[in-house]
Amino acid sequence: MVLKIIKYPDAILRKKAVPVDKISEEIFKLADDMIETMLKEDGIGFAANQGGSLWRIFVINTTPHEDKPTPVVMINPEVLSQEGSVNAEEGCLSFPELYLAIVRPEKVRMHAKDLYNEDFVYEMDGILARAVFHEIDHLNGTLIIDHVGALEQDKVKKYVDGLHCKTTHT
Ligand code: NI
Repeated sequence: MVLKIIKYPDAILRKKAVPVDKISEEIFKLADDMIETMLKEDGIGFAANQGGSLWRIFVINTTPHEDKPTPVVMINPEVLSQEGSVNAEEGCLSFPELYLAIVRPEKVRMHAKDLYNEDFVYEMDGILARAVFHEIDHLNGTLIIDHVGALEQDKVKKYVDGLHCKTTHT
């Protein structure tokens, strides 16, 4: 089932997701729905908060530049180490049409469980490392607008004011 994507300023995007203690049928269904939603929207990643759930899960498409997607489910993800830094434009399905220059680590080594409770260590770089930090941020209630420097603050203010106008007048 494709989930309704929660958009900013919904309060759930500011909540900290809680660790998954048991991989129940609910978790399976949620992961499946998150993958379906991410692929339909052409996203590289999708965090549980964005689908209205507060479990520490995100999904990521590890082959974003290929025709065939390779979705991976990351349960209770943790960063083990990181390296370097890159400044690049980044978007978010919860902020349609907003793209902000954000500095993120270049490489990440992370740990997560899969749907079968197996432990995995992943090493990723480039756009995938960026996606990992973006999605872990979501699970902690942190959003792209929290990362911007002084130059982009104006852009964020205009975007947020625009949302306010929309909710007031329609
Ligand atoms: Ni996002």
